[in-house]
Amino acid sequence: MSVKKVYMETFGCQMNVSDSERVATLLEAKGFQMTASEVEADVVLLNTCSVREKAEHKLYTRIGQIRKSSADNLNNSPDPKKPVIGILGCVAQLEGETLFNRDQGINFVLGTRAVGRVSDAIEKVFDGQKNLVDLGEREFGYDWTVADSQRQFPFVAFVPIIEGCNKFCTYCIVPFSRGREKSLMASDIIRHVLKLRREGIREVHLIGQNVNSYRPSSDSGLEKFTGATAFSRLLRAVAATGIERIKFTTSFPRDFHTDIVTAIDEYENLCNWVHLPVQSGSNTILRLMRRGHTIESYLSRIDKIKASPRNISLTTDIIVGFPNETEQDFLETLKIVKYCQFTSAYIFKYSPRPGTPAFEMSDNVSAKEKSERFLELEKAVKNNQQKVFQNYLNKIFKVLVEKISNKNTAQLSGHTTCQTVVNFEGSAERLGKIVNVEILEAKVNTLYGRIC
Ligand code: 5AD
Ligand code: SF4
Repeated sequence: MSVKKVYMETFGCQMNVSDSERVATLLEAKGFQMTASEVEADVVLLNTCSVREKAEHKLYTRIGQIRKSSADNLNNSPDPKKPVIGILGCVAQLEGETLFNRDQGINFVLGTRAVGRVSDAIEKVFDGQKNLVDLGEREFGYDWTVADSQRQFPFVAFVPIIEGCNKFCTYCIVPFSRGREKSLMASDIIRHVLKLRREGIREVHLIGQNVNSYRPSSDSGLEKFTGATAFSRLLRAVAATGIERIKFTTSFPRDFHTDIVTAIDEYENLCNWVHLPVQSGSNTILRLMRRGHTIESYLSRIDKIKASPRNISLTTDIIVGFPNETEQDFLETLKIVKYCQFTSAYIFKYSPRPGTPAFEMSDNVSAKEKSERFLELEKAVKNNQQKVFQNYLNKIFKVLVEKISNKNTAQLSGHTTCQTVVNFEGSAERLGKIVNVEILEAKVNTLYGRIC
């Protein structure tokens, strides 16, 4: 029998990307072959995101396109294939078997914690099982460390440390799609990082919906390390592995204790970047969002971060047009963006998600106002970014060379320790190395420089 080819597309956050890396690695180990071509695939997997309505719509559009391209292929090809289609991830978890009614072409549905059983699901569908749904928990002994052959970038690895969310911010679907917070054992995380280090990985990203809410059921592996919170002790333990660079995302403001900054100050391999979503600059809106932080408590954390000698760069997420957001509330968001000097910010227009508490509120900021606020905020963020970038000009940054630039094949591309993209001329033998780059020019979201 010929080798079955699998085409996979991933939407959404780093946890989805990380799940997909493990799915692809497991499938290869089971004898499947990953392909970059959807028309030659025997199996199409879509790992989905439901955080905003637009992300969810994209899925239905993609299924239509894939079915059309395989139908065209059926007509034209001497070796016609009609792929098995599997839906994984957040939309799968939330919609379950109702997905079969939405699109007749879907063969199976695997929820966010069932992705480890993807090869079983594919085999069962090939054996004739119809409408297979698995929304179960991770299997006992689920191996979080198997992404070796299918990493997005060969020198940067995602290390999940906590999954799920207990916060229930009123706009957010994640507690429903990803379940309750579950921290991985510290000893397993350390073993994972040591393995990556041996394999030549230069940079790890500790990932989770709220990384700094890390709270393992047993502290084994962290006893030797100081710090009031389990997360800061974990950071120190990961730093002690000697891996070259450690980044972590996303942090939750209420759980962002000062011992995290102290750990960054003490260990050079803990990188100088914090992603701390503020969501709004207005206390009225933050209360309606049930974020668990006020602007004052958020800014006290920002001040602590800014006081660090490490020159920590800050990024954030902001939602515009949440129900009842007035012009005054929005002006307060603009004000705090200016105060915090974020290097960049992801801005989103509020999108009502069925099943969340905010869905019951009237979505009363018009589409026009949402767009206007989005554009104005984007302008303010860009202005700030240029101010931050001006300070980088003519200075030397250590950049991990991750890939050849998409736009210009004579250029290499990588990130600074503070998570800014830098492009510069150089040849492919530099890939995977950490090089010194003098910054010469700043454009939107990207710096340009030369190796020195
Ligand atoms: N509408 C708009 N943006 C949202 N986010 C989460 N839920 C929604 C929603 N319903 C944004 C938040 C979060 C980021 C991952 O997505 O800013 O931090
Ligand atoms: Fe999207 Fe959230 Fe799911 Fe990530 S966890 S894929 S952001 S819905």
